[in-house]
Amino acid sequence: MRKALPEFQTKRLNLRGVSQADIPTYQKYFADYEVIKHLAATVPWPYPENGVQEFFDKFIFPHQGDTQWLWGIFEKQNPQDLIGAVHLWREGRPENRGFWLGRPFWGKGYMTEAVEPVMNYAFNDLGFEKLVFANAVGNTKSRRVKEKTGAKLIDIRPAKFVNPEYNEHEIWELSKSDWIEFTTSK
Ligand SMILES: CC(C)(COP(=O)(O)OP(=O)(O)OC[C@H]1O[C@@H](n2cnc3c(N)ncnc32)[C@H](O)[C@@H]1OP(=O)(O)O)[C@@H](O)C(=O)NCCC(=O)NCCS
Repeated sequence: MRKALPEFQTKRLNLRGVSQADIPTYQKYFADYEVIKHLAATVPWPYPENGVQEFFDKFIFPHQGDTQWLWGIFEKQNPQDLIGAVHLWREGRPENRGFWLGRPFWGKGYMTEAVEPVMNYAFNDLGFEKLVFANAVGNTKSRRVKEKTGAKLIDIRPAKFVNPEYNEHEIWELSKSDWIEFTTSK
């Protein structure tokens, strides 16, 4: 069942549930090997022209606000164009979260800023007691976001990614109590 997601504002960003209108900019920034190579091997590469439409229709729209939550990230200074996304899902694979930013928007601290209201919502409103994150060993940019937001590295396991040179992933955990401690000690 499709439900509207809450909208969040941070210092520089707006986050809102993705809609049909966001598909062109999602496709524009996401269909980039430098973004997709870090993702699980289940993501197709080369990325199909209708890849985002299919992903939204099959996996997001039917479950949005129920078992999946996919927020688009928008700059306040250009609020129409989606520049990235934060995704949460209930059933761990083992992870419960994914994220990406278009390449022109890396290195500005946007993802570290964007995950904060999403973590608050996951713990305070969605009832998660613990979130699991994962990234390819070697994906240092994704690793840094976790390190900087209170997550703890718990394991390294074999995994397959779009980039065939990656063969392991780091598993991280963030408990509700660690998150509360992290946000209150900032
Ligand atoms: C993972 C990903 C979202 C990280 O993007 P990012 O831009 O490196 O992360 P942030 O937005 O948090 O920015 C962090 C950097 O911005 C810099 N920065 C510049 N201005 C800043 C500011 N005003 N505030 C905070 N940081 C700032 C910081 O130095 C920081 O780098 P550091 O932590 O090494 O010091 C991005 O690399 C990406 O989309 N990768 C491809 C997809 C992917 O890997 N997804 C995750 C799969 S597990």
